[in-house]
Amino acid sequence: MAKKDYEKVMKKIEENDIKFIKLWFTDILGFLKSISVPKEEIAKAFEEGIGFDGSSIEGFVRIDESDMVAIPDPSTFAILPWRPKEKGVARVFCDIITPDGKPFEGDPRYVLKRNLEKAKKMGYTYYVGPELEYFYFKDANSTEVLDKGGYFDLIPRDEALDLRRETVLFCEALGMRIEYSHHEVAPSQHEIDMRYEEALTMADNVMTYRLVVKEVAYRQGVYATFMPKPLFGENGSGMHTHMSLFKGKRNVFFNPKGKYQLSDNARYFIGGLLKYAPEFTSITCQWVNSYKRLVPGYEAPVYLSWAQRNRSDLIRIPMYKPGKEEATRIEFRSPDPACNPYLTFSVMLAAGLAGMEEKIEPPEPVQENVYKMGAEERERRGIKQLPGSLDEAIQLTEKSQLVREALGDHVFNHFIENKKVEWDKYRIQITSYEIEKYLPIL
Ligand SMILES: Nc1ncnc2c1ncn2[C@@H]1O[C@H](COP(=O)(O)OP(=O)(O)OP(=O)(O)O)[C@@H](O)[C@H]1O
Ligand SMILES: [Mg+2]
Repeated sequence: MAKKDYEKVMKKIEENDIKFIKLWFTDILGFLKSISVPKEEIAKAFEEGIGFDGSSIEGFVRIDESDMVAIPDPSTFAILPWRPKEKGVARVFCDIITPDGKPFEGDPRYVLKRNLEKAKKMGYTYYVGPELEYFYFKDANSTEVLDKGGYFDLIPRDEALDLRRETVLFCEALGMRIEYSHHEVAPSQHEIDMRYEEALTMADNVMTYRLVVKEVAYRQGVYATFMPKPLFGENGSGMHTHMSLFKGKRNVFFNPKGKYQLSDNARYFIGGLLKYAPEFTSITCQWVNSYKRLVPGYEAPVYLSWAQRNRSDLIRIPMYKPGKEEATRIEFRSPDPACNPYLTFSVMLAAGLAGMEEKIEPPEPVQENVYKMGAEERERRGIKQLPGSLDEAIQLTEKSQLVREALGDHVFNHFIENKKVEWDKYRIQITSYEIEKYLPIL
């Protein structure tokens, strides 16, 4: 990397008395990885990268090809507000390359970049606004809630008030725009809404957001989790993702004369999401526990349907600001906040663009409450269902050409291999439910 590309960062490091810079990247499951570099070494890191053992990173490489290099991206430099002011700490996200200087196809950030490049060649910029819900518990070993609140509740002595406050302030200090925050439907469940961004920036922001939420909780002696469904009988935590495509300043999804003020491309994008959702659900909902959330009756989607306003469908067209071009968007409701955001944004974009290329007309919108609709009625209207388990989802992904192309062979094969192991480990477990139910009678 040329000096001029990282000069500004070197200046910020001096001006803010930064001593350590954390180089961040993720493995294929979306876990954040970090190498800390003292400032004296950062210029060399920008120019040559930092070598590391790729065989110790989930989904990266085998031991016999383990040398990998992390190249920091200077545009992602930010100071960590919870670390000391003197001899402070900053972070940069990295792109992973192989020793011969080529982008590493197993790097989730590169996977997203490749999909965004395809959209860019078509003239589009992909914007996303994910809403990450999460829970606070007393500690990491129990699901003891901090409060019994509900949607938008303001409760006296609500510990979460201060937790959310500090989290919002830290996120803003890291350059993220926060639109609002509130208590969610389930007890001890919360949401802080980030303003939508271009997808690569937002994927980095999702990684940062998850770390900040957990860091603030840890500092205040409680535990925060993005586990999709920690409490039986309560709403799970989703990551509804709002999305739109822009061509320059024009919102490609907007047509004032179109049905719901949507353009043909918006409808085709919806058509693509509905057609391919079963194939890519193992990416947006990647854990065994993710499917305990995708059950009827908890605002989580189960059926492949769409409409305006309706929160029982997989795809919702928000109706807050009808006719407002900038706000015209599609909300895709099945992802959960424990997904890998780089891979999730990649497969949703790939499916939408495929819908535009294939001109897929979506089925009629379903305005009723789909959860209450009988199986026969759904059958008659051709309303299909999302996969009901990780096992089912993986089998559909394995046959998907769209997901293979979107992720690339390396990530595709490693991801499926990893998830099959996870499912096998789970399916042989004897659960407490089985003991309670079967031991007394069999
Ligand atoms: N054109 C756009 N493209 C992508 N995202 C957008 C666009 N306009 C707004 N957004 C984002 O959509 C998200 C909307 O969140 P909001 O909480 O209003 O959604 P909601 O689904 O109505 O809420 P909830 O699910 O909590 O009831 C925000 O992140 C916002 O920044
Ligand atoms: Mg929503």
